[in-house]
Amino acid sequence: MTTTTISEVKSINTPSVIQINADIPLDQALEELIRNSKEISITRGKRKGKFETGADKEGLELLPESSKERLQADGIDIQAGYPEAPPREDIPIYLDQAFEIRNYDVPFVDRGKNADPEKKSLFGAATEIINLTKNVGTEIVGLQLEDLTDQQKDELALLIAERVVVFFRDQKLSPSAQHKLGDYYGNVEVHAQVAHVPGLPGTTVIWNDYQVKKGMNLNFATSNLSNWDSTKYLNVGNQGWHTDLVHERQPAGYTHLHLDAIPDVGGDTIWSSGYGAYDKLSDEFKKFLDGKEAVYVSAHQYLDREDPFGGPKRIERVHPLVRTHPATGWKFLYVNRGMTKRIVGLSPVESDLVLNYLFDVYEKNADIQVRFKWTNSKQGYGTSAIWDNRISQHRNVWDHEGDQPRHGTRVTSLAEKPYFDPESKSQREALGKYLHQWD
Ligand code: SIN
Repeated sequence: MTTTTISEVKSINTPSVIQINADIPLDQALEELIRNSKEISITRGKRKGKFETGADKEGLELLPESSKERLQADGIDIQAGYPEAPPREDIPIYLDQAFEIRNYDVPFVDRGKNADPEKKSLFGAATEIINLTKNVGTEIVGLQLEDLTDQQKDELALLIAERVVVFFRDQKLSPSAQHKLGDYYGNVEVHAQVAHVPGLPGTTVIWNDYQVKKGMNLNFATSNLSNWDSTKYLNVGNQGWHTDLVHERQPAGYTHLHLDAIPDVGGDTIWSSGYGAYDKLSDEFKKFLDGKEAVYVSAHQYLDREDPFGGPKRIERVHPLVRTHPATGWKFLYVNRGMTKRIVGLSPVESDLVLNYLFDVYEKNADIQVRFKWTNSKQGYGTSAIWDNRISQHRNVWDHEGDQPRHGTRVTSLAEKPYFDPESKSQREALGKYLHQWD
């Protein structure tokens, strides 16, 4: 094998001397190098700790007892370790490879679209329905998610589409049952890089304590950096306002986080409504934004085949900036600070100005938000939040700083190809609620 030496290629954090195989095309040789090098891998190897392919023995030792019991009761084999990372050789290296993942149309019908607007079957079976704030967030008491009929699931979808997020405490819910519910609501996303429950790709592990142990720099000082300027200060964990998977051809819809280990105090999650953010804008500004498109980027990064030493880059996809929800028919603002790069057709300065205002509207209005305190009253049970990623942003609050374990599993159902219907109404318009007239 002939080798070529490249010195000091610092932009992707390389060692000072690397060797590549010059007998094969350069992009293949680079791919081989990247996959086999801990130092320059854009995948898990980049972090301080070791993220091995497959099941992780070290993770298993950290796993909270309640989580372990839930997994084992479901027949999940965790003997080899926990969680399970996708095989390193399957992780795309180049942007074009990553872009091609799910780059085709998948039929999708929103389960909430034809549901009974009064939700008689769901509400009739529950013992209590509690609206946690006026505009966002409802808790349902007295029902087990695993026992819902299809009719109740459809009504639940419509309720989530209206209220943004719905909560169920004290749930006996296996990871497989959670995955099955996700399958019902759409095409379950399987992530190319993120760790999942062993043998159950698509059931993603949400476990900051583990990530920190593996080298993620999450602490009291860093946990909110991306709320200032996420282009300058990298997102650490899930603490900054964000919407999941906006770069997908068919981005995330109904999304279900089930926590099976919950700290006594802290670790809350906050959601903000995209219907509300849109309705905060004046009619003139709404008219300006309606029909505009924006460029959305992925959270994870890959290399540009044409410029492999130019540093990691994000997948980009264009979607409408104002979308229409297929189940409610209401318009909503589709932006988030970390992943909406620019508005198509505006100058960079104009785009930054407008987007920063829109991010602020979404993040700073408490009357379109709900903060949920995860609690659970029964041993061996967990608590679920199901939200609609289309119409919301969310963020975790890491105030417990890992003092007590917090562990959960998340299943994300991908929804429709985003669209904007110029005939659709805003939420307040459709509900006949007061909208401020400025002149
Ligand atoms: C997420 O960002 O999807 C999870 C939120 C949380 O852990 O509270």
